[in-house]
Amino acid sequence: MYSLVAFDAYGTLFDVYSMTQLAETLFPGHGEPLSLMWRDRQIEYTRLISLSDPTPTGSRHYLPFWDVTVLSLRYCCKRMKLELTAEREKKLMDQYAKLQAFKDALPVLEVIKSKAIPTAILSNGSSQMLDTVVQSNGLGPFLDKIVSVEPARIFKTAPQAYQLLCTSFGVSAENILFVSSNAWDALAAAWFGLDVFWVNRQGHPFEEIGPKPKYSGSSLTDLLKVI
Ligand code: LAC
Repeated sequence: MYSLVAFDAYGTLFDVYSMTQLAETLFPGHGEPLSLMWRDRQIEYTRLISLSDPTPTGSRHYLPFWDVTVLSLRYCCKRMKLELTAEREKKLMDQYAKLQAFKDALPVLEVIKSKAIPTAILSNGSSQMLDTVVQSNGLGPFLDKIVSVEPARIFKTAPQAYQLLCTSFGVSAENILFVSSNAWDALAAAWFGLDVFWVNRQGHPFEEIGPKPKYSGSSLTDLLKVI
């Protein structure tokens, strides 16, 4: 039995691609490409910041994930020649702050808690944005801790980011099951030494580099088969 089940936030518990609909309303015909490019650029920026100064005390280029998210949205709109007024930006970011959780997130967390297994989030998200999205979806009572990479001032996939889980709970990596729908995150967590459950909702292939995840399934519910 694991000492901790830790979840990635964006894409795993919370549906980042649900932004497509609002993006489509604001920019008809561009909703899907915009939300895909936005997510890619957001992650790209986290990597650029982390890799350009990967010191043990974090990157001097560190910016809170909220800022990374706004700046990547601005970049994508410029790139796609879409007029991002202050009002449109606010609408998109207000929705991002309260992204909907996937339908299976709450019931799965409830079951894990009923088994008395500690639960956490480990996310690139800044603390404040994680608190807001967790509260707005009513997940707070089912999570023991929300661990943001903020204190490490570096983003996943840096090992210091995954280390935060071991440090905050005082448990070793092999006693932690990490759950992510982002294949890159699942792979890096496994490289760090965590056991991994990859939530593959879209039936994508796993990464071609590195080990395949120890567990995978097509929904969060499938996670209950392995704990
Ligand atoms: C997270 C994003 C990057 O860490 O998925 O929550």
